[in-house]
Amino acid sequence: MVLLGTHTRPCVHLSHRRVLRGTRGAGRFALDRLAGVKVLIVGSGAREHALARSLHLDSDVEELHAVPGNPGIGQLATLHSQDPNDGAAIAALAVNVRADLVVVGPEAPLVAGVADAVREVGIPCFGPTAAAAMLEGSKAFAKEVMAAAGVPTAEPRVCTTPQGLEAALAEFGAPFVVKDDGLAAGKGVVVTEDHDQAVDHGQAILTSGGTVVVEEFLDGPEVSLFCICDGETVVPLQPAQDFKRAYDGDAGLNTGGMGAYSPLPWAPADLVDEVVRTVAQPTVDQMAARGTPFQGVLYCGLALTSKGLRVVEFNARFGDPETQSVLARLETPLAGVLLAAAQGRLAELPPLQWSDDAAVTVVLASHGYPESARSGDPITGVDVAEEVDGAHVLHAGTAWDGEGALVSAGGRVLSVIGRGATLTAARATAYAGLGRIGLEGSHHRSDIALAAAEAAGT
Ligand code: AMP
Ligand code: GLY
Repeated sequence: MVLLGTHTRPCVHLSHRRVLRGTRGAGRFALDRLAGVKVLIVGSGAREHALARSLHLDSDVEELHAVPGNPGIGQLATLHSQDPNDGAAIAALAVNVRADLVVVGPEAPLVAGVADAVREVGIPCFGPTAAAAMLEGSKAFAKEVMAAAGVPTAEPRVCTTPQGLEAALAEFGAPFVVKDDGLAAGKGVVVTEDHDQAVDHGQAILTSGGTVVVEEFLDGPEVSLFCICDGETVVPLQPAQDFKRAYDGDAGLNTGGMGAYSPLPWAPADLVDEVVRTVAQPTVDQMAARGTPFQGVLYCGLALTSKGLRVVEFNARFGDPETQSVLARLETPLAGVLLAAAQGRLAELPPLQWSDDAAVTVVLASHGYPESARSGDPITGVDVAEEVDGAHVLHAGTAWDGEGALVSAGGRVLSVIGRGATLTAARATAYAGLGRIGLEGSHHRSDIALAAAEAAGT
């Protein structure tokens, strides 16, 4: 492997250091001396398209690359075809394109050690090491860290035998929460009143050689808060809420997320401070004390229960589709924020600037999703959707067919984002954009942010 020491890349490192020391407290992070930044994004979803869009809008970013990307990202970045989970290949690509920053989107490459491989060649990487990504890679590990850090979460039982599973289900009672310990792409969790279904899910995990985590049911609304971390310092973004179930009224199966919105007018004013104080900072401190500092996004999935705030899950990456809503509202140029995290300099970052606008994301899913997603259906109207004032469209499961037409290529096909002065206005914009898109057999939820908009009364 080619090793590239930081000394061979003096311009960016020195200039960035100067910049980061420079203008603390200024309204805008002074990145002018950073001009010419080259960023490589790893991933292919709408989350990565949202990251690409924000980086594209950042005038300090000169060149964008993505691996493997998607047709939407391809309009903003040069696409590459390496395996996103192959650390050596991604590190070599980063060297090749002379990347100043690599941003790893999904969990699989993180757990596979892609961020470690990139750092080894001396290139700043936004995303945790494989060891730190275990906060997402193993629910049992995350529970152990939370216990050590005193972070409030649902009481867990780790089960490796059918007897252990039965005992844990009996101990907690219904509703049952049964989780696959490992990564399961959003499909590993069953929350059910039905004892047989809980047993079946747990048994299936055990039979496939996995470990089951059974835990206490958490009531109350869920919130996603993304905390940008550099191993020591925590900078929270604004909270969002996503909609995991497939259909309106939270009917149907869990999905990767069918929509999201931000801000949360109903949330307590001190929510972000409380999460940083009681969840994110203690977790980051605990990870540092273990010698596995966490750099990247600590995704705090929270429930605001009748007994107080509890962690539902940690992820080691941005959430999808919450990122599409959150980044639509972030006014601070993104490259400097991600670079500061990757270089351990978040403490020097001025406060982030946010738009007062609301942003609502609605996911357009293909026929059959989430059980079995149909691919190859023609997609029309993306351009006209973007003509709706305040709307933009991000790609996920899309592809170009042999004739250059855009077709579906996955379950979650597009994210349509609407911005507006209120959630009601943002919803209207998102759904107006979505209404202009054609995809046979597709479905979407029509109630994204509806209850919050009604409760806000604007
Ligand atoms: P996870 O993969 O851990 O994020 O869980 C997926 C979804 O299952 C969460 O977003 C919740 O909606 C639900 N869930 C997970 N754990 C619990 C719990 N302890 N109580 C209630 N719902 C849960
Ligand atoms: N929206 C849920 C997730 O990204 O895991």
